[in-house]
This record gives sequence, C-alpha cells and structure tokens, in this order.
Amino acid sequence: MNIEEVIKKRCSIRNFLEKEVKEEKIQKILELINLAPSAGNLQAYKIFIIKDKEKIEKLSQIAYGMSQFQTLPPLIFVFCANTIESSQRYGARGKNLYAIQDTTIACAYAQLIIASLGLGSCWVGAFNEKTLKKFLKTDLLPIAVLPIGYPAENPSRKERKKLEELIIEF
Ligand SMILES: Cc1cc2nc3c(=O)[nH]c(=O)nc-3n(C[C@H](O)[C@H](O)[C@H](O)COP(=O)(O)O)c2cc1C
Repeated sequence: MNIEEVIKKRCSIRNFLEKEVKEEKIQKILELINLAPSAGNLQAYKIFIIKDKEKIEKLSQIAYGMSQFQTLPPLIFVFCANTIESSQRYGARGKNLYAIQDTTIACAYAQLIIASLGLGSCWVGAFNEKTLKKFLKTDLLPIAVLPIGYPAENPSRKERKKLEELIIEF
C-alpha cells in the first residue's frame, strides 16, 4: 500500500475480531512509531502496552470514550507525554506544547502504521485522567488511548469539511 492508500484506508474501528495481534506485528508497529519526528529528537513520550484481558476491561471503563465500542480489542496502547523530559530542555514550551506534540505525532503515526498492516484502531481521548494515571501507576500525562485489533467492521468514510473551510489564503 502506498501512503495515499494507507491514509484512505485508516478509519476509526470500534468493533474488533477476537483474534490476537502477533508479537511480530506489535514490534513492527513500535519500530515504525520510533521513526516519528519529535522536538529536538527527544521523543518525550512513553507507550504503555496492554494485552491482559482483565486490564483491557478495566481500562475500557476508565476510557469512557470506549463506551460506544461493540467489542473490546485484544490490545491497547496508551500514549503518555513525558512533559518533564521536554521541559528540562525547552522549559514551559517543552512542557505545554512539544511533549504533547511528540506524543500526538507518535499516535497519529501509529494509526497509519496499524492500518497499513491490515489492523484497525480508534483514538480515544475521552478518559478520566486522574484514574488513568492511577491505573497505569504513572505521573506521565496520558494523551491517547489506542485500542488495536483486527477490524470486525468496515465503516464508511466520514464526511470532512470542504477544503475552503480549512484553508486561509494569506
Ligand atoms: C483527539 C481525538 C479524540 C478522540 N476521542 C474519541 C473517543 O473518546 N471515542 C471515540 O469513539 N472516538 C474518538 N475519536 C475518534 C474520532 O471520533 C474520529 O477520528 C472522527 O470521528 C473521524 O472519523 P475517522 O477516524 O473514522 O476518520 C477521537 C479522535 C481524536 C483525534
């Protein structure tokens, strides 16, 4: 698949097959995420990998944005920003912007890589931050919960804004 095909293929998947994602695929996703750009190449983020069924069930309650999901995925990545690491080099801009951008870019890359491998994902931003930090036993800042698995649905493409609404000729 070329990049255009991958971008067109990616869409939010909220219904998954009960099929495990093999370790080699997980490693491939991680290796490619690791090539994403980041401020000063700091890569100021961590990715929590969750495969345990009970933990996935618990996490799906903390991430209430998963309440519309028809089934739970076999795998979840949680992308967390390391704001302290970025602030040590870039001060407030590192803490408030770069660390969050690093993490967001990594997760956006992940969604495309996942689609290119025939898997599906859905960015879940609706979660209780405090509860999620406690669940993960971390002080890092959770940015995105990313359920991953083989799609059990083929949703039609969502309408987008017209380009005229997005761009400003300057
Ligand atoms: C920052 C962000 C937060 C999101 N949070 C949720 C969420 O909590 N629950 C959910 O089901 N989808 C969530 N989504 C997925 C969007 O609903 C979805 O990307 C959008 O409707 C466009 O559809 P598409 O991904 O199929 O192109 C989120 C997406 C982004 C980028």
